[in-house]
Amino acid sequence: MAIDLKSPAIVALELPEQTPFLNNLQANILKHHGREHALHLFLRFHGHDIPAVKKWLADLPITSAFQQLEDSQKRHMDKKHDGGLVTLLLLSAKGYDMLDIPSPKSVAFKNGMAKRQNILQDPPVYAWEDGYNDEIHALLILADTSKSRLKVKVNELIPEKTPVVTVVKEQWGEILENEHGIGIEHNGYVDGVSQPIYLQNEYQEYVNNTGITKWDPAAPLSLVLVDDPGTALEDCFGSYFVFRKLDQNVKKFKEQEAQIGNMLPGNMKEMAGALVVGRFEDGTPISLQNTEMDLEEFKKIPNDFDYSNETNISTVKCPFHAHIRKSNPRAHNPNLPPAEAENFNKSRRITRRGIPYDEICRNGNLAFHPEGGVGLLFMAYQASIEDQFEFIQHNWVNDPSFPVPDTGNDPLLGQELNPAHLWENQNHNWRTTQAKGTALSVDCPIHFKDTITLKGGEYFFAPSIPTIKSWEIGYADNRKSNDAASKKKK
Ligand code: HEM
Repeated sequence: MAIDLKSPAIVALELPEQTPFLNNLQANILKHHGREHALHLFLRFHGHDIPAVKKWLADLPITSAFQQLEDSQKRHMDKKHDGGLVTLLLLSAKGYDMLDIPSPKSVAFKNGMAKRQNILQDPPVYAWEDGYNDEIHALLILADTSKSRLKVKVNELIPEKTPVVTVVKEQWGEILENEHGIGIEHNGYVDGVSQPIYLQNEYQEYVNNTGITKWDPAAPLSLVLVDDPGTALEDCFGSYFVFRKLDQNVKKFKEQEAQIGNMLPGNMKEMAGALVVGRFEDGTPISLQNTEMDLEEFKKIPNDFDYSNETNISTVKCPFHAHIRKSNPRAHNPNLPPAEAENFNKSRRITRRGIPYDEICRNGNLAFHPEGGVGLLFMAYQASIEDQFEFIQHNWVNDPSFPVPDTGNDPLLGQELNPAHLWENQNHNWRTTQAKGTALSVDCPIHFKDTITLKGGEYFFAPSIPTIKSWEIGYADNRKSNDAASKKKK
């Protein structure tokens, strides 16, 4: 059966006709792999023997979406079942060129992240960490619940005697959790809450836990999947993938947070961080604070709000500049007629699959506030880099006039802007009507410049598994199947 990406129906795993589609798709796109440890290997292919590179790639034990979802169901029934290793392969545009195979068409993808510096307001490539500024052809992600098992697997997979690839960068990611076992980022805030949902069982769980009166997170597959240009076979999809290593200066973040706190009344100091992020550390959205909620049930982090009642400065609970509002304004977008705003904003959503990293052995000690060496490996899948990740970063996060004039950029994330909008000139309005109906407004020159620094990144594509397997058949045969594929795509 040909899968219709545009269909609003989300994927029901029990339908047998969806099995081939899920077998062809790589894991981690429709659902986070959820493993505690992940090794990200940035690879450069050896150009003198491309058939051998292709053979090596084709032999990798790539995890399919079907396998992942089956494992996750088993894990649900039996906690001892840990699902084992997840293996994922992503190719950069230069990687496609090296392999000489039909490549995804996106201009942003073809340019690579380094050349999109102006759009993203990124630091220059010469300031990136070594390895990330090298020519990267592929990213191999290996994730497992057991770090020692993962290390053994890496040695098996990367051939030392007859090398076909060089590892230009090795990057570990480790899940970080709060005292309730919920995933957090290094500033201590619960992360990974609000996501598009593609799977029927996840949606049902969401409806049971959170309820839907305003914000419906269901998403069509077209938000994250595109036709894979590498094969003529039916139901083979891929996804564009953004990787960014974002280093966090926790000390500075906490100092700035404390400064805002100093300006708030005694019983509201805790709100300081929520005015920056849009959620409290435990994940409670500032938009829903003071409403009836069972906050004891930490697994049920609320997400049912849409800012539709917070559209002007006298009604905002969540400041316009807050990270979650800038990066997903939900139903509010003054640039569009109200009836169109929500659908438009929803079409920009990204599927976040990031994981924190710790290179200084902080070991989850949140009382220690490092100035760097910890951060987030931001990773996101989408159907269009230009219309989703870059749109969010350029048109929303970094635009001081979005959603309304004088909002400022995203204090958690916004990067250095052009001289007319230097951080120092941005007095965010730390305003909320949260204090039992009393408007609170603190205008102050507190800025979060340099609390996050980009250390490197790249754009990739996650090809379908049949495409990867087709590289096995040898260079000459492969060319034939590629020609067939390009005819189909014309
Ligand atoms: C070190 C960097 C980052 C940190 C510490 C961070 C932290 C957070 C936190 C704490 C949340 C709230 C919990 C949740 O809903 O998941 C969140 C949500 C979100 N973040 Fe980030 N984030 C970072 C980078 C980014 C980047 C680079 C983007 C995209 C340009 C982004 C886009 C989003 C989106 C779309 C949401 C969900 C908003 C919603 O739907 O309500 N984040 N982030």
